[in-house]
Amino acid sequence: MKRIAIYPGSFDPVTNGHINLIKRAARHFDKVIVAVAKDSQKKPLFTIEERIDMLKEVTKDIEGVEVDSFEGLLVDYVKRKGAKVVLRGLRAVSDFEYEFQMAHMNHKLFEEMETFFMVTGAEEFFISSNLVKEVARLHGCVKGLVPEYVRQKLAEKFGKGSE
Ligand code: PNS
Repeated sequence: MKRIAIYPGSFDPVTNGHINLIKRAARHFDKVIVAVAKDSQKKPLFTIEERIDMLKEVTKDIEGVEVDSFEGLLVDYVKRKGAKVVLRGLRAVSDFEYEFQMAHMNHKLFEEMETFFMVTGAEEFFISSNLVKEVARLHGCVKGLVPEYVRQKLAEKFGKGSE
């Protein structure tokens, strides 16, 4: 049986922290599906199509990785994909409470599903999509925080700078 893991998120935009996690996860599963949530409470900067495009571009050389999107409850998507494992990254204690609640809620909704937490890479633990957007919006340098392709897309949104 294939070991499939779903890595859900907003990915608005994908950062080097996400990529570090995807690369490491791909070594332990036959397939990692990076799933962009369409139903998020957050108001995204990038459209769903833009976020998928960036993810596809920056993961194209990682074997066993697929990019997809989903609407509705995560547990329903996980069931449709025949998966039982969801991956989430933990950067710091501040992430924990939200992740803990979400993992329990998802487990309540789909008992067979487990959330596997991975600690974020040592070089990337301080990176978040929100902070990257803030820095780019104010024309700060986002090199080393996101892949070059994403940096260009941020520069297109926010104008000059972001290099
Ligand atoms: O990158 P994010 O924004 O932290 O990801 C959060 C996400 C998309 C994983 C979460 O909001 C989610 O699973 N949304 C889908 C709707 C859902 O199932 N909500 C109930 C979660 S307990």
